[in-house]
Amino acid sequence: MLLQIPDVLSAEQLATARDLLRDAPWQTGSLSAGRQAIQAKNNQQLPLDCEASRFVSEAVVRAVETSPLFLTAALPKRIFAPRINRYGGDTPAYGEHVDNAIRFEPGTGERVRTDISCTVFLNDPADYDGGELRVRDTYGSRGVKLPAGHAVLYPGTSVHEVTPVTRGWRTACFFWIESLVRSDEQRRLLFDFDMALMRLRESHGDDASTVTLSGTYHNLLRMWATT
Ligand code: NI
Repeated sequence: MLLQIPDVLSAEQLATARDLLRDAPWQTGSLSAGRQAIQAKNNQQLPLDCEASRFVSEAVVRAVETSPLFLTAALPKRIFAPRINRYGGDTPAYGEHVDNAIRFEPGTGERVRTDISCTVFLNDPADYDGGELRVRDTYGSRGVKLPAGHAVLYPGTSVHEVTPVTRGWRTACFFWIESLVRSDEQRRLLFDFDMALMRLRESHGDDASTVTLSGTYHNLLRMWATT
């Protein structure tokens, strides 16, 4: 499932991020790529411990952890430390690849299964040409390019790429999520169920049927979740 989460970061947070990112210590993106991905990866990224990285990743994690849409779609168990990257100039693209299934959390060495990927766009599409996130799914390939501060969730299992930036720079924050529910298909069913139930409650209020449906949602979650 591909899902947009609007307004993860505010205009004020984006302005602060832009100032910090201007003089940030950018380094080559190949430092953190897996064996297959390194062939395709040609971008720049920030070390985790610089001021810009810390500011953006704290703001993003805080925002998604309190976003009802993110929580119901991702059902997060663990969130991998966000990274900041950019594309442009001599480092314009990241060709088709699949992310490593397991990542080691820097510092703690904790293993995280990459069930879901999330990209938060840090500048506007008007700033650059190209730089589309393309995600291949069973229906073909879909392109995503969102306004600054908006995020997209896509399955970690998918083949994806960032197409070459031919003008300007594309800056984004991305991270992986290990979900309580490993299967994309089951997460999708739970998401649709939860959203429909919410709409039903809004239009009809609570009654015996919504209580039963709510119980069914939680029983499905209990059946499929690993904690
Ligand atoms: Ni990737």
